Amino acid sequence: MSNYHIKHLEEYFQVYRKSVRNPESFWEEIAEEHFVWRKRWDKVLDWDFTKPEIKWFEGAKLNITENCIDRHLHIRGDKTAILFEPNDPNENAQHITYNQLHARVSQFANVLKSKGIQKGDRVVIYLPMIPELAISVLACARIGAIHSVVFAGFSATALATRINDCEAKMVLTSDGSYRGSKTIDLKGIVDEALINCPGVEKVLVAKRINSDIHMESGRDEWLMPLLDDASDECEPEIMDAEDPLFILYTSGSTGKPKGMMHTTAGYMVYTAFTFKNVFQYRENDVYWCTADIGWITGHSYIVYGPLANGATTVMFEGVPSYPDFGRFWEIVEKHKITQFYTAPTAIRALAKENLDFVSNRNLSSLKVLGTVGEPINEEAWHWYNDHVGEKKCPIVDTWWQTETGGILISPIPFSTPTKPTYATLPMPGIQPALMDENGNEIFGNQVDGRLCIKFPWPSIARTIWGNHQRYKDTYFSAYENSYFTGDGALRDEVGYYRITGRVDDVIIVSGHNLGTAPIEDAINEHPAVAESAIVGFPHDIKGNALYGYVTLKETGENRDRDNLRKEINQQIADKIGPIAKLDKIQFTVGLPKTRSGKIMRRILRKIASKETSNLGDTSTLLNPEVVQKIMDEAL
Ligand code: WT7
Repeated sequence: MSNYHIKHLEEYFQVYRKSVRNPESFWEEIAEEHFVWRKRWDKVLDWDFTKPEIKWFEGAKLNITENCIDRHLHIRGDKTAILFEPNDPNENAQHITYNQLHARVSQFANVLKSKGIQKGDRVVIYLPMIPELAISVLACARIGAIHSVVFAGFSATALATRINDCEAKMVLTSDGSYRGSKTIDLKGIVDEALINCPGVEKVLVAKRINSDIHMESGRDEWLMPLLDDASDECEPEIMDAEDPLFILYTSGSTGKPKGMMHTTAGYMVYTAFTFKNVFQYRENDVYWCTADIGWITGHSYIVYGPLANGATTVMFEGVPSYPDFGRFWEIVEKHKITQFYTAPTAIRALAKENLDFVSNRNLSSLKVLGTVGEPINEEAWHWYNDHVGEKKCPIVDTWWQTETGGILISPIPFSTPTKPTYATLPMPGIQPALMDENGNEIFGNQVDGRLCIKFPWPSIARTIWGNHQRYKDTYFSAYENSYFTGDGALRDEVGYYRITGRVDDVIIVSGHNLGTAPIEDAINEHPAVAESAIVGFPHDIKGNALYGYVTLKETGENRDRDNLRKEINQQIADKIGPIAKLDKIQFTVGLPKTRSGKIMRRILRKIASKETSNLGDTSTLLNPEVVQKIMDEAL
C-alpha cells in the first residue's frame, strides 16, 4: 500500500489510522519516497505546543525548487509546468515547460543575487497574476531568500506596513496590471508605499502593460534586460528543513496583520501530499486553481503543491466576468481542465448569470471540483454540482487557513462520499477536536464547538514574523496543548465536519479574511469620525458583507451623510484596499458597550442581520438606550 495516493474509502481509513497512531513513521515514509534530499533528517518531529515550537525533518537539507523543477527535467522537461492564460482572451496562452521554467527561475535567481539578495533576506513581491509572479517566488526559494507576496489589490498603506514589518530590502513589481477592462497602476502604488519604507534598496519592474511610469534612479530597474543577460543556470542554495521559505500576511482580529512564517521541508511534503490526494491528481491532468498567488491558496495549490508533483498548473490573469460571465467555462473547455478549484463567492456570482454561459461549453474534461475560503451554501453547492460537474465530479470542500499551510479537512474524491456544506473528514495526520467554552474537549458525534487541532502537521506556520508571543497568544493559549483555529464547527452523526464560521472578530468577505480592527482604525482616522464598529451580515454573493456603525464628532454632525459615506469608503480603500469597503454605513449616536468599555458586537451583528427578535443578554450594557435607537435607524 502506498500512503501517498489514496484511492478508496477503506484505504483512507487505514491510512488515517496509521497516520494518527504513528505520525512520525507515516510522514517519514512519504518524505523518503517522494522527494529529493541533499541530506536526510536526524529527527522527524520535535514539538511542544506550550512554547510553541514545532520542527519537522530536523537536520535534513534540501532545496524546494529542486523538488519542484530540477528533478522533473529528465522525465518531464518538455511538459507544460505553468499554463498562463492572459486577461484578454485574444492574447495567446503561454505554455511554460519544466525546462523553460528551470531556465527562467535560474535567470531570475541570478538577477536577485546580482542585486545583493542573499539567503535569509526578505523580498516583497507585488505582482499581478503573470508568469513573473510564480517565477520570482521560485527564484527566491532557489537562493534561500524569504518571499513575502502581497496581493496586488492591497493599497499603498497596506503594502508599506507589510514591507516594513518584514524589513524587506527589495520589492518586485510591474508597470501595471490588467484586470478585466481596467488597468491598474501598480508601480504608482509601490512608489507611494516606498515613501514610508526606508529599508527598501531596490525595485525591479516587470513590463506588462507598457505604461509610461516613473523610474526612481538608483532604486528602480527594468527586469527584462537584466533577465536576458543573466545565466540560465543557478545552483540551488542548500537549505535546512526549518529554514524560512516565506512570510504571508493574514488579518488578525486586533492589531496589525500577522506575518505567518512557513518553513521549507514540512511545507513541501504536506502541500505535495494533499495536492495529490485532494485533487486525485494524475499525470497529464491540467489543473486550475483560480485563486491569486497573493493568497495562501495560490502559494500551496498553484505553485508549490502542483509543481512538486510535476503537474501542469494554470495561472489565470483575469477575472470571471471579463469579457463576459462565461470566461471560466471558456477556459475549462479551451485547456481541457481536469481539476477546477475556486471560491464559493465566485460560484454564487456566476450562478446568478444566464445558464447558457455554462451549458454552451463542453466541460466534459472535468473530473474533480473544489471550493475553498468560506463555507459554501447548499444552493451554490448544487449549482456547481449540477451545472459545472454535471453530477459526475465530486466536489471537495476544502477547509484550511493561511496558518495551516495546506488543506486540513476535505473529502478525498472517489473515496469520501460528499455531503453539501460539509468539509467532511480530516486529512491523514490531522487530529481535529471540538472544544466547549470552558476549554474541555467535546467527544462523540452530533456535537458542535470550537475547532482545534491537537497534533502538529508538517505545514503548520512556525511563528508570526517578529512576534512569537503573539503567535502563542493567538493560537496556543485558548486551549491547552491545542492549536486553536478561530472557527466554529459541528460534527455530524458519521463524524463529518461542517465549518460554521469564525468565532472571533475576523469576517470572511468574498473568501477574503478581513479583521475588524484595521478597518475600524482606517475609519477612525477620518477627521469627522469619533468611533466605529464593523460587523458582518449575510450577503447573497459575498457570503458576508460589512456593516459599519459610525459615531461622529460634533464637528462632523452637519456634514452630508452620503458624502461622508463615500469618504469613509475611500479612506478604507486607501488604507487597506477596495475589498474592505463597507456595504452599509449607519451613523449612530453611540455604540453599545459593556461597563468595561468593550463594544458589544454580538448585538450589532444581530441588528445588521435583521435578527432583532432576541438580542440575548443586554444586562451588562452601560448604555442600553442606544440599542433601541440603533434598531430604529437600522439600514
Ligand atoms: C479562514 C481562513 C485556506 C485558504 C483560503 C482562506 C475560512 C476556509 C473554508 C471552507 C468554511 C472556510 C475559515 C478559515 N475557510 N476554507 N472550506 N469552509 N470556511 O485562507 O484567508 O487564512 O482564511 O477561511 O473561516 O479560518 P485564510
